[in-house]
Amino acid sequence: MDRRRGTFLVSTTTWGYSVKTQAGILWETNTPWSVEEVELDAPKAGEVLVKLAASGLCHSDEHLVTGDLPFALPIIGGHEGAGVVQEVGEGVSWLQPGDHVVFGFIPSCGKCVSCSTGHQNLCDMGALLGLGVQIADGTSRHHAQGKDLSLMCLLGTFGKHTVVNEASCIKIDKDVPLARACLLGCGVVTGWGSAVYAGDVQPGDVVCVVGIGGIGANAIQGAKLAGAKKVIAIDPVEFKREKAMEFGATHTFSSMTEALAGVQDLTWGTMANKVIMTMGVGSGEVLGEALALTAKRGRVVITNIHPAMEMSASVSLLDVTLMEKQIVGSLFGSGNPRYDIPKLIGLYQAGQLDLDGLVTREYPLEGINDGYQDMRDGKNIRGVLVYD
Ligand SMILES: NC(=O)c1ccc[n+]([C@@H]2O[C@H](COP(=O)([O-])OP(=O)(O)OC[C@H]3O[C@@H](n4cnc5c(N)ncnc54)[C@H](O)[C@@H]3O)[C@@H](O)[C@H]2O)c1
Ligand SMILES: [Zn+2]
Ligand SMILES: [Zn+2]
Repeated sequence: MDRRRGTFLVSTTTWGYSVKTQAGILWETNTPWSVEEVELDAPKAGEVLVKLAASGLCHSDEHLVTGDLPFALPIIGGHEGAGVVQEVGEGVSWLQPGDHVVFGFIPSCGKCVSCSTGHQNLCDMGALLGLGVQIADGTSRHHAQGKDLSLMCLLGTFGKHTVVNEASCIKIDKDVPLARACLLGCGVVTGWGSAVYAGDVQPGDVVCVVGIGGIGANAIQGAKLAGAKKVIAIDPVEFKREKAMEFGATHTFSSMTEALAGVQDLTWGTMANKVIMTMGVGSGEVLGEALALTAKRGRVVITNIHPAMEMSASVSLLDVTLMEKQIVGSLFGSGNPRYDIPKLIGLYQAGQLDLDGLVTREYPLEGINDGYQDMRDGKNIRGVLVYD
């Protein structure tokens, strides 16, 4: 037993081989998150015990609740977290207790074909995401009510402590507030990269962003920083459209149908060079409208998650051929966690990226269901759980 654990988890530790903490668990689809005691095993080789400071409330965890993302249950939710390393397992040489980390929601091994060709977002280790078990040995370190728990994106950031593989950890400067840094684990890089990397926004481009939550707000920021001439935000909620203007949008519309005539006017009929899809739930039904908003040789970026069972989309494939329109998917903004998380923190420090404005409300862990209700009600750009 490592007795040091007893000193740093004073309020939550039991002496022994495991510690007790609290976490938000989803036991069944279409039920609320249940905040309860979780038993956490010590980190094994290649693993890290982290005391979390904060976790963003991304829409992707809502897909677990609705069943649109059919991951293994029971699961500790949360994949947008940051915290302080408490203990490292055997063989973890580059992290030590006291280091600050953000978790990448896709682990990066640094060795597979994707990692070694600059596509860490597609690391082979991501194959375990649906099972939520530890990368090292396929077992669980988290248990509640006598059952093994899986972890959203191998992280489980709706918990005050977690054990994750070192491949999920990105070390950051200690002077970055963790309740803002957590957003880099998903929403910020995903949205920003959807515009800058997947969308390849160029100076002078006209860009539409469809859906202004944590992801869309950052797509706007990315498009603006990449030099877009017009950034057109589309969302049915008025508050979202107002916030979009604060993040750098130049025009707003309440639906894609309404935007169609508007974008025609704004572009003399040439339409948008890039259309970035960041709605709460993706829909194949509306893809045709997205393509109609897109210019010749323009690109639709699909970042929003579609229900796993959706197998069809309504698009004019003739447009795809005759106008050379492109439809591309994007995971984690097509970015590299180890490169892009520190890079975007640097943009925040330089005043070129707004993280503070993204956080509409903070909640304690016990407020997790209120946070998701606020997201469903369109009240938040991002809600963030802040732990003591
Ligand atoms: N690809 C990735 O790597 C990745 C990563 C994170 C999240 N996501 C996905 O991105 C999506 C957005 O996540 P979020 O956390 O920003 O969600 P969110 O719920 O905070 O925001 C979604 C926004 O979409 C708006 N919206 C809903 N229907 C719309 C419509 N028909 N037209 C225009 N706007 C509409 C809502 O009003 C809301 O403001 C989700 O599907 C999420 O799972 C993907
Ligand atoms: Zn997310
Ligand atoms: Zn890899």
